[in-house]
Amino acid sequence: MRPIVSLDDVSLRYHSVSGETLAVSHLNLSVDSGEFICIVGPSGCGKSSILSMLAGLIAPSEGSVHVEGEIGYMLQKDHLLEWRTIRSNALLGLEIRNKLTPENTAYVDALLEQYGLGEFKEHYPYQLSGGMRQRVALIRTLAVRPDILLLDEPFSALDYQTRLSVSDEIGSIIRQEGKTAILVSHDISEAISLSDRVVVLSARPAKLKKIYPIHLSLEEYSPMKAREAPEFREYFNAIWKELDIHVS
Ligand SMILES: Nc1ncnc2c1ncn2[C@@H]1O[C@H](COP(=O)(O)OP(=O)(O)OP(=O)(O)O)[C@@H](O)[C@H]1O
Ligand SMILES: [Mg+2]
Repeated sequence: MRPIVSLDDVSLRYHSVSGETLAVSHLNLSVDSGEFICIVGPSGCGKSSILSMLAGLIAPSEGSVHVEGEIGYMLQKDHLLEWRTIRSNALLGLEIRNKLTPENTAYVDALLEQYGLGEFKEHYPYQLSGGMRQRVALIRTLAVRPDILLLDEPFSALDYQTRLSVSDEIGSIIRQEGKTAILVSHDISEAISLSDRVVVLSARPAKLKKIYPIHLSLEEYSPMKAREAPEFREYFNAIWKELDIHVS
């Protein structure tokens, strides 16, 4: 399969009045179409910077970034507009791009129906749970039919119980819609349960430490069931060690 995303020997430096910060160092990574990968790494190591380069928001200082296709970017906060209804929030991306065609609008309505928000279309964000809000944010992102989804810790604002079911739902939606996804997470279990490969980065500057292809023996895959697979714990322990998180 041909890579849809590739980073070739990418380094990134930030310049500010206080000096220079090397955020990413000589990173190589490629992602195939339809793949779901998860990036884990210590706090502040450069994960969001990598997504920003993939989204074209910042340019690498060295090396090159190739992305084939439209990007959809989903952040930790849902950024729903409180004065707009759920439906009109979901349509926002299309509106901004001047793509509010009947066909695209019908697509958003279908997504809202399919993913359990049909009855809430005319509600306002404050009337929804945190998990439902994240689903609206995902539908708003999917509305513009991106090929590649960049997800920067989209579940971290949710409490543990909600987080489990929402990451399960969102992971399943992304797979059903056949998207390529690059998820940043600080939750090792979430990373293993959702992705085809887990990419472990070093502390800043982000360097590639190791990539773990995930193969779980399961009769039927779902992110929730993945946690019960016999291999799960082994992956967890290996990635935990690789991350080398010291608690002092
Ligand atoms: N616009 C910027 N200007 C200067 N330095 C920046 C800028 N953005 C990020 N940095 C620095 O680059 C490093 C990497 O930041 P980044 O946000 O990519 O890390 P992260 O892995 O996403 O962190 P977190 O785990 O907290 O989300 C940090 O040291 C940060 O202070
Ligand atoms: Mg970040």
